[in-house]
Amino acid sequence: MRTSFNKDWKFFLGDDSAAKSPLYNDSKWRKLTLPHDWSIEGKFDEKNPAKPEGGGLPTGIGWYRKEFTAPANFKDRLITIEFDGVYKNSEVWVNGQYLGKRPYGYSSFSYEISKFLKPGKNIIAVKVDNSAQPDSRWYSGSGIYRNVWLTSTAKVAIQEHGIFVKAGFVSGDFGESTDVGNLQPGQTVGFVAPQVNFINKSVDKIKKYKIEFTVQNQEGKQVLQHTTKEDLIEDSSGKIVSNLLINKPEIWSVDRPYLYTLLVKIIDSENKIIDAQSTTFGIRRFNFDALKGFSLNGKPMKILGVCLHHDLGALGAAVNVRAMERQLEIMKKMGVNAIRTAHNPPAPEFLDLCDKMGFLVMDEAFDMWAKKKTKNDYHLNFPDWHKRDLEDMIKRDRNHPSIILWSIGNEIREQFDSTGISLTRELVAIVKNLDKTRPVISALTETKAEKNFIYQANALDIYGLNYNHKLYKDFPANYPGVKFLATETTSALETRGFYDTADTIRRWPKDGKTKFTEGNKEWSASAYDNVSAYWGSTHEETWKEAKKYDHVSGLFVWTGFDYLGEPLPYPWPARSSYFGIVDLAGFPKDSYYMYQSEWTNKPVLHILPHWNWEKGKSVEVWAYYNNADEVELYLNGKSLGKKSKQGDDLHVLWHVNFEAGTLKAVSRKNGKEVLVREVKTAGAPAKIELLADRKNIKADGKDLSFITVRILDAAGNVVPNADNLVNFKVEGNGFIAGVDNGFQASLEPFKANYRKTFHGLCLAILQSTEKTGTIKLTAASAGLSSSSILIHTAK
Ligand code: GAL
Repeated sequence: MRTSFNKDWKFFLGDDSAAKSPLYNDSKWRKLTLPHDWSIEGKFDEKNPAKPEGGGLPTGIGWYRKEFTAPANFKDRLITIEFDGVYKNSEVWVNGQYLGKRPYGYSSFSYEISKFLKPGKNIIAVKVDNSAQPDSRWYSGSGIYRNVWLTSTAKVAIQEHGIFVKAGFVSGDFGESTDVGNLQPGQTVGFVAPQVNFINKSVDKIKKYKIEFTVQNQEGKQVLQHTTKEDLIEDSSGKIVSNLLINKPEIWSVDRPYLYTLLVKIIDSENKIIDAQSTTFGIRRFNFDALKGFSLNGKPMKILGVCLHHDLGALGAAVNVRAMERQLEIMKKMGVNAIRTAHNPPAPEFLDLCDKMGFLVMDEAFDMWAKKKTKNDYHLNFPDWHKRDLEDMIKRDRNHPSIILWSIGNEIREQFDSTGISLTRELVAIVKNLDKTRPVISALTETKAEKNFIYQANALDIYGLNYNHKLYKDFPANYPGVKFLATETTSALETRGFYDTADTIRRWPKDGKTKFTEGNKEWSASAYDNVSAYWGSTHEETWKEAKKYDHVSGLFVWTGFDYLGEPLPYPWPARSSYFGIVDLAGFPKDSYYMYQSEWTNKPVLHILPHWNWEKGKSVEVWAYYNNADEVELYLNGKSLGKKSKQGDDLHVLWHVNFEAGTLKAVSRKNGKEVLVREVKTAGAPAKIELLADRKNIKADGKDLSFITVRILDAAGNVVPNADNLVNFKVEGNGFIAGVDNGFQASLEPFKANYRKTFHGLCLAILQSTEKTGTIKLTAASAGLSSSSILIHTAK
């Protein structure tokens, strides 16, 4: 049995080694529920040792303690405490007994604690040490930022992550057969091959058990059952069952992410269930081809991916399933079908969501090996821990149908010297030993094959290239027979709502040597998709190349969302990245619609910029569109002409002399109107509008309602440059979990009951309590009529 172990923890920000003692008095400590990230609660400060690159928030040492009652009959059981992730260097004591240390902040780990428990009250203490800074190129968060679980099993049990399901299908469509014979076109047979690893800590080693395997479909109907003969279960032993077949299986795909559940039971000779564990899995197959690219279930498709860091904006690193789901919903609507978990193993719930929502995943282990990128980063632990960390990631994650690639590292320094060869081979072997069903990749930047030692290891299944989009074209000629994926692309820089035209595309910074001076006083980058880092390219430059060639299996754009840290190119007070297609608050920048017009089939027409300019200014008006032959633009009812995309154009544009009023775009196909979009010149701010992403949420103490706050003029138009300070009041059964406005250089705190709007918008994140009822949010701002919204919470 696995239960949440998140509640009733005590927390102290600081170091007190006496806290590991069960007798320690923690009555003055703060009470909280995990997951918890103390960094996000802190104040931005340029002097914080994490530096702006790490998000400019405090780090340090923190302690957590929790008093708990040992599960009944724990003496006859195995009790395990599981941490999904602690950033970082966690050390754990139970009743003063030291359990161990785990340096890597992104690994999931556990301790078997039965022998340290006593009847009644027990104390667990966890020290988290994130004080050696800087330690990361992005914001890490600090604390027990993922879920914690307590598991109780019999002494004969299935190991943690002890089930590995290999599943796939054969089909007559591909001329395939089963043992029984050839399959006809349209005929499909699924296969499920579970592998189970056991523990046996019981004294009775001669007792025999049966293992029962049951597969249920998504509707809960049993589709398969298999029971083994009675046999001994030795400690640390395994069992593989290979030929379980499902006729006409439902196939997992990104459009129809169908999941089966495998339930494994250990049953003794009296027919008593001793232990049971289940896992979801999907039946699917995929292939990378050096010339034809990627295919899923036999159908060619491009991997349309984004890279994501793990932070959840204003919520920091603290895991929240709804916040992750919202990010994925926003990505899905844009047309994204794949996520790269840059540059570390994600929270397990993130992968569950990808399975359920239909995303392919490139699951990445490391951003560095033995050679550092930042002074105190994981290179210090790599020699002692890489095997364990990599193995634990594969074992934890290998049942997710979403995962199609294991990445052993991002832009690893060992590319550049010969130690890269042996390390690559070692890491690939670690992965293959645990899972041969997926290719292993690494994201490379050294483009000369003979100088790239990771490539020279000749152990990777696919060539993963970061940036260098001009090299896509000749890849098959330069690397005959090599499979190719653009593991990281673009690095365009944009600020939502900020527009600045330029005759040529800007590279900020322009090279690796020159100090960046080209910025503006708004600390912003134009949302016209005309700025990128010098090693990168704009969204349009990149996608035009990637879409041209079938041998480019796909791409992962850097990044789907802005993230905390790496505020390139701006210095302080910039403290979060400009790379996102969507800002930190979750509001799309305009490029979002370029992708949507290219990556989805739904009709898109999006025009930019806003329509509040000085009279007579020449303004570039862009339209992203699809499913139409042309777009006609009108200003105050007067046509400014029709435009159609030519060649590889991804947008159309008009130069318009600004005149206040209404800008209207109409897309047409065969002369028939498809979509109409209007932007109006807004007047002075007059009122506040509150829009909830969901008005009914769960009263589980975790669920969230994301409230978009918009500043409107008297006629109801969003005021594009409004920066009014909004004050929030919450009544009822909820609280504000965070506020944001997406501005990369704002130093306002995320945990607050106020926020300035930025380009007309800000965000308040409401979290439920466990009490059912309502949450009322009221937003007020000087000189504006206030507004309120009611969210209902139910069990
Ligand atoms: C890449 C790196 C990413 C990020 C990005 C910014 O080289 O892999 O982590 O730093 O640059 O452009």
